[in-house]
Amino acid sequence: MANNEATELTDDEARLLVHRAGGTPVYVYSREALRAAARRVRAASVPGAAVYYSLKANPHPGVVAALAPLVDGFDVCSTAEMETALNAGTPPRDILFTGPAKSWAEAASALAAGIAVTVESPAQARLFAEVAGRLGVTGRAVVRLNTPYPGRTPDAAPSPNQFGIPDEDFAEVVEVLRGSPMALTGLHMFWGSQYSDAGVIRAARITALERARKLAERYGLAFELVSVGGGIAMPWCDRDAPVDWDGLRAVGEYPEVPGEGGPATVVCEYGRSLVGPAGSLLATVLDTKTVGDRRYVLVDAGMNHMMIASRLVAGAGRGEPSVRVVGARNPDELSPAYVTGPLCSQLDVLAENVLLPAVEVGDTLVFSGVGAYGPTFSPSGFLSRDKVGEIVH
Ligand SMILES: Cc1ncc(COP(=O)(O)O)c(C=O)c1O
Repeated sequence: MANNEATELTDDEARLLVHRAGGTPVYVYSREALRAAARRVRAASVPGAAVYYSLKANPHPGVVAALAPLVDGFDVCSTAEMETALNAGTPPRDILFTGPAKSWAEAASALAAGIAVTVESPAQARLFAEVAGRLGVTGRAVVRLNTPYPGRTPDAAPSPNQFGIPDEDFAEVVEVLRGSPMALTGLHMFWGSQYSDAGVIRAARITALERARKLAERYGLAFELVSVGGGIAMPWCDRDAPVDWDGLRAVGEYPEVPGEGGPATVVCEYGRSLVGPAGSLLATVLDTKTVGDRRYVLVDAGMNHMMIASRLVAGAGRGEPSVRVVGARNPDELSPAYVTGPLCSQLDVLAENVLLPAVEVGDTLVFSGVGAYGPTFSPSGFLSRDKVGEIVH
């Protein structure tokens, strides 16, 4: 079953969480599930690697605080995310500020806070050098190398992207940083998201580590850290391939990269696989109706809260999310239903043609496995409706 990692709330838990939150729609994130995910993901990483959490998947301060003792560092993409990571008690040296194009103000915030930045072009290297000089600080630069994203299966073709520098630009970036107050402390090679195949993930990590080793040798560099991405999927729809956790745990040796006085620290950087399984969205049924041969269940959560389930992103071959009714009266008498939101948009369909028991207005539905790319990935301004609630339990 694709969704087997997701936390399934009991009916009583769901009922009480709705009361605790003061109503729906509300995302609820389970601390216990975050702990389980952190254990599972660490065991599937490069052995001994530092595990970083990427706030882009879910920057809720309670989630970040819950993850702080479970991971070794954070990947942030904005000054707001940076402050959330710092507020969770994370030392600045365990935070990495990534993103392909940083502004002067973002560079200054990160360097003033003592946080390492990824360098994604020679021009950005010059910007960081200038900012560090103006601030009178020594900054830490982690050079992101452009890394094509592998195909999802071993035979599929890789796809290009705009992130990081091609190898031809490495010499120029090293040159700019050498004459500046920015120390080149590491390499970053994020190579994509949503992979389930252990062979593909392992091959991408090995390629990244080999590449780092060659660059260290060629330029006489010793790195503090080498980030080899994460890439592990969050199976949340019924047709998603399950992650090959056994295959990932069983992998053998990985190459070492020279660092200061020993091998460089390898970083594995994950978002969805850490938080996805821990989150559920609770919604209340506002109406039910039949139009033609379709049964519609209309709820108070929409694509403005859960864009990943909207027809813009899911559906059409992607499969459907796991959704169930709390306290169903006839749980075994199932019939197809379209679960739709309250928005005036045809795209506001959260689950299409899924089997549900009979529901009544006021019933609670639970979508599970949806803890990643939720509220902050959704068009929350659309129709100027209220924001969705979020609690950690
Ligand atoms: C640089 C970087 N790190 C981490 C992540 C998190 O990826 P995921 O949520 O798939 O684990 C992303 C996703 O886009 C990314 O671009």
